[in-house]
Amino acid sequence: MSLYISYTIIYSLILSLIGFSCIPVSVSIPFIVLHGIGDECSNKGMKHFTEELSEWSKSKGYCIEIGDGSWDSWFKPLEEQAEIVCKKVKQLKELQDGYNFVGLSQGNLIGRAVVEFCDGGPPVRNFISLGGPHAGTASVPMCGTGILCIIADNLIKSEVYSDYIQTHLAPSGYLKLPNNIAGYLSKCRFLPKLNNELPGERNATYKERFTSLQNLVLIMFEHDTVIIPKETAWFGYYPDGAFSPVLPAQQTQLYSEDWIGLKTLDDAGRVKYISVAGNHLRISSDDMKKYVVPYLEDGDDTSKPAITATSSVQSDLDNRQMEVIFDRSSSYQWPSPVKNFFADMFGFGAAKDH
Ligand SMILES: *[C@@H]1O[C@H](CO)[C@@H](O)[C@H](O)[C@H]1NC(C)=O
Repeated sequence: MSLYISYTIIYSLILSLIGFSCIPVSVSIPFIVLHGIGDECSNKGMKHFTEELSEWSKSKGYCIEIGDGSWDSWFKPLEEQAEIVCKKVKQLKELQDGYNFVGLSQGNLIGRAVVEFCDGGPPVRNFISLGGPHAGTASVPMCGTGILCIIADNLIKSEVYSDYIQTHLAPSGYLKLPNNIAGYLSKCRFLPKLNNELPGERNATYKERFTSLQNLVLIMFEHDTVIIPKETAWFGYYPDGAFSPVLPAQQTQLYSEDWIGLKTLDDAGRVKYISVAGNHLRISSDDMKKYVVPYLEDGDDTSKPAITATSSVQSDLDNRQMEVIFDRSSSYQWPSPVKNFFADMFGFGAAKDH
């Protein structure tokens, strides 16, 4: 009797051990989200976005904040913002086996800086970019229509590569004016380095790290009026010296000379060029489920669905819904502290733009 019992116990033990090893080990890796300019993790839209992705993918998501959020996203140089994220991802123990990345607009450049520059950081697996100005933008994020805005916009464009603006205005780090490429290459402190654009200063480590991504998902918004040209979301841009035509990524030197490994990734089939309807960051729930969530889910990251089709026009309902979700960040109107900052900076006094 006792012998029988111990056999049974051993037998079931063995069974359960075998059973254990046969269950596919599904390790869900977490993801982080980096928001765009003027936004912050505590905003309802960002919370909702992170929660929805978590819920749909069944993976834990973290919105990583830089400083106080909105203000710092405007005024802290992007190298510094990236250093802060680098520290945070090294500290968060849940990320140490690797993580996926979801970037919104400017957040994508910070994310890419973390991939390329962050020494000793945990590996990023899938990099999912929504409306990222990867090749630069030829316009300052919109101020609005008032006279202060028009003057400020022109002043910023003429002064953007000055040391002062470079150290005080985050988006100046990726403002690439095709009619001032010399100024851009010599004075712009962030994007030329990130994109390995400076001859003689190209760093093979950045390329090696960027090339280690499993998938690079580049989502472009067909009606994007915030990042100019919208194709910058796919690494497309203007030729040096002219505002037309827009060159597809494949016709740029960054790609053909493979400065950061984009071509290497593309040749390996790991770059997904996705185009969705809507203005900047107005992604529908359907498109999130189709193009973002699969890369955040458990399992074998190399066998993701081959997504090549562009999305069909979304229903009005979806678009309206997303405008609510991205309420704060979607308008890109400068908040009044930002306007006041420029008013002081350019000596307008306490100008009101209405
Ligand atoms: C390239 O970047 C890596 C990582 O940041 C750094 O350790 C290395 O010193 C850089 N190499 C050069 C030549 O600047």
